[in-house]
Amino acid sequence: MLILGIETSCDDTCAALVKATGGFTRPRFTVLSNIRSGQVDIHQEFGGVVPNLAARAHLENMNPVLTLAFKKAGIRIRDAKSKIDLIAVTSHPGLIPCLLIGTNVARTLAWLWDKPIIGVNHLEGHIYANWFRPIQKIPKITFPAMCLIVSGGHTQLILMKGYGKFRIIGETLDDAAGEAFDKVAKLLGLPFPGGPPIAKEAEKIAGKKLQGIFPRPMMHSGDYQFSFSGLKTAVLYLVKEKYMKNGKVRVTKNERALLSAEFQQAVVDVLVTKTLIAAKRYGVKTVILGGGVGANKKLRHELGEKIRTELPSVAYLIPPVGLAVDNAAMIACAGYFHYLKKGAKSWKDIKARAVL
Ligand code: KG4
Ligand code: ZN
Repeated sequence: MLILGIETSCDDTCAALVKATGGFTRPRFTVLSNIRSGQVDIHQEFGGVVPNLAARAHLENMNPVLTLAFKKAGIRIRDAKSKIDLIAVTSHPGLIPCLLIGTNVARTLAWLWDKPIIGVNHLEGHIYANWFRPIQKIPKITFPAMCLIVSGGHTQLILMKGYGKFRIIGETLDDAAGEAFDKVAKLLGLPFPGGPPIAKEAEKIAGKKLQGIFPRPMMHSGDYQFSFSGLKTAVLYLVKEKYMKNGKVRVTKNERALLSAEFQQAVVDVLVTKTLIAAKRYGVKTVILGGGVGANKKLRHELGEKIRTELPSVAYLIPPVGLAVDNAAMIACAGYFHYLKKGAKSWKDIKARAVL
């Protein structure tokens, strides 16, 4: 089936056309187009996403993004009514003003073209980003799976017992991992979003032995919860104490790289340690990584190494780097499995929700 995916839960306006076949037994996806329009320039000065500004940009960008998605896929919009089988749109969780734009565009198209529509959980989308891989490399994904979803808005450990069977077993009590990357980057004078520049800074001193100067919050708390605001504050205090001159942060290139590497390592240590504990405790067959922070090389590598040495029979799935961050192809994919399991809904039933 041909699925139109739409995603506007945060600050990326996304549309994708994805061909899905094979059902639950042999699912295969071909991404015909996957368009993403970011808004970094708008939110840069605030060091985080401003919901109403994001929504306004979605409104402006949605039609050009949709037009490009159809063009890239080689489908004329006037043929969409006969070619599209299903519309999948992120309906929750996310920023309400932003979700409202995507869901209303999707509802309108479903109404106009008389198509079935699915409201998709954004975090499920991040999990299903792992289902896109060259056909010869698709392992038979075996359940139960432990999913670590780390993004700008969420940090969760989700037990996936099968398609559509998810249980959140732990999440952050305060900041999300990506949010911590963004805030620490701002503090160090690096651009937004902070994950990629912090990773780049850290790479400059790759191989250098780190001192472990920052705390690893809740790493051995005995549960599956996370907390990153204390870590961010620890960086803030150290910077204030050692690198603040006349109200301005002054760090040398080497110090910035070192602070970035120390911070990144603290986040990675916590995420890897707790995922391993959860994977062992629940006896899973697969570990799945997802979300924007899942693009982080260090995290991808260290989680993989730990699984290889401590849980050698467990499969490890990481999304293609370009599909770890928000995109609409993953939403189309999640929509496909929902459709197979429960059928679709009418446009009247699709509602945006801020929370899960
Ligand atoms: O999943 P995503 O695109 O959007 C949300 O659903 O929030 O995640 C965005 C987050 C941002 O906080 C960004 O700093 C972080 O993912 N991120 C990274 C990397 N690439 C993006 N964090 C660490 N390392 C990266 N390479
Ligand atoms: Zn996301």
